[in-house]
Amino acid sequence: MPAPEKTFYLTTPIYYVNDAPHIGHAYTTVAGDFLTRWHRQKGESVWYLTGTDEHGQKVMRTAEANNTPPQEWCDRLVESAWKPVWRDLEIANDDFIRTTESRHTERVQKFLTGLMEKGFIYEGNYEGPYCVGCEEFKLPGDLDEGKCKIHSKPVEMVKETNWFFKLSAFVKPLLDHYKSNPDACQPDSARNEVVAFLEGGVSDLSISRSTFDWGIKVPWDTKQVVYVWFDALLNYATAVGLTDPSDSEGGKMFAKTWPADVHLVGKDILRFHAVIWPAMLMAAGIPVPKKVFAHGWLLVGGEKMSKSKLTGIAPSDITSHFGVDAFRYYFMRAIPFGSDGSFSWEDMSARYTSELANDFGNLASRLTAMIEKYCDGVLPARAESSDLASSLSKTVSQADNAICKLDFQGGINAIMDFCKEVNGYVTIKEPWVVAKDPTRKAELDAILYNTAESLRALAILLHPIMPISTKKLWGYLGADKTLGALGEQKISEVAKWAQLHPGTKISKGEILFPRLEEKQEI
Ligand code: MSP
Repeated sequence: MPAPEKTFYLTTPIYYVNDAPHIGHAYTTVAGDFLTRWHRQKGESVWYLTGTDEHGQKVMRTAEANNTPPQEWCDRLVESAWKPVWRDLEIANDDFIRTTESRHTERVQKFLTGLMEKGFIYEGNYEGPYCVGCEEFKLPGDLDEGKCKIHSKPVEMVKETNWFFKLSAFVKPLLDHYKSNPDACQPDSARNEVVAFLEGGVSDLSISRSTFDWGIKVPWDTKQVVYVWFDALLNYATAVGLTDPSDSEGGKMFAKTWPADVHLVGKDILRFHAVIWPAMLMAAGIPVPKKVFAHGWLLVGGEKMSKSKLTGIAPSDITSHFGVDAFRYYFMRAIPFGSDGSFSWEDMSARYTSELANDFGNLASRLTAMIEKYCDGVLPARAESSDLASSLSKTVSQADNAICKLDFQGGINAIMDFCKEVNGYVTIKEPWVVAKDPTRKAELDAILYNTAESLRALAILLHPIMPISTKKLWGYLGADKTLGALGEQKISEVAKWAQLHPGTKISKGEILFPRLEEKQEI
């Protein structure tokens, strides 16, 4: 029997449930959603995982501060804050893992037992600084006057007898791995950082804690709980059946999805993903992920935006003004993926107006209004070819290349350049002038048909990033009835010209991106 098709498997970090999501979390999750929707429209089998990281001191202390048992706290936050925000942002994840679920905790224990049996775990003493904000044992270079450089908060001293993972044994295999697979850690700057870190030498890692109990119990020493990062990193594999027998449902799922194609992470958590995680997998004899991609930070006032520094902005602060599609579009379009970027209300307003309201939304309004006015609301005869058709072919391959390389800005630019070109085409062809001369009816029909075809293509290409407005446009073009659901349209078929059916009723629906009232601040 042929091997089943490998599923394109993408993950986001699992987020701490010490608070509600802010736009930094949404940034990663939207990026993952965009990329997985794109791959789905390429006709691939896709699995998109997100979830929540619920153990450890950070979450435990937040629950205590709110006089709530930690499990109850997590349940409440997941249901009232995390899942609803992803729903509102149209995130089409296939699974949502919580680290307190038994499917996760049981598999973590099995995995750990396996590493113990293989001799990669031993008992030792740990003494050193720990940042609860990062949930990380710190090195002297990570501190600034005794404070964590990321959280600007004093670290705590930890002195415990713990279980250790022989991380140091994997320095050489990891260096070899990144040398022979430069794609396994991207962008290049991130890989260089990881290589330099590994070359500096790495100590073994304490992977259990004994001074609190909010965590997964170490199976052979139940007074200890598993270190929260060791527990959390495993989510990517436990969610798809790690440790299950190969003929079980979980085992089959694992064979189809593993290794993960992309782990999307913020650059703050790169080392966990590019050093600790692959070492854990190497120790267990499991293939390492194909790619860890570290994106930059959203900055406010030049610093990483975060709730702990009171600079966190909730997605709804932005979507209530600009709408969900514009939110998704803006962050992918404005900031090169991999670099830091400052969020600015002014920049977002400017792009909304020029790119979404004027270039895209207005093109749709112009076309539907002209078809109503000149063709009684019915799509005219097919135009079999157009200069726009060859531009579209180039656009599709440019966008596809860029997006598959996680150059989201480049991909969206290519699509929006085509949108501009179509606007230029309408302006030059002046259908409102052609319409005055009844002998030029065929010419008028061709202009309108070509414009409608271009909008068909734009609806498909922009669907992964703006699922709401493109669906509306698809409906206005009557394409759902003739070509099927928008999400089913294949990227590889987009450039085939003349797909819309002449005679289809075109409707002049509501404006896709209405003009905004001026608004000063959030
Ligand atoms: N729970 C860990 C991750 C475990 S993954 C096995 C964690 N959680 S977190 O809630 O702090 O979220 C971290 C992720 O949120 C970052 O890696 C990044 O993807 C995203 N972001 C949080 N703040 C951000 C910005 N200001 N800018 C961009 N992304 C940010 O770490």
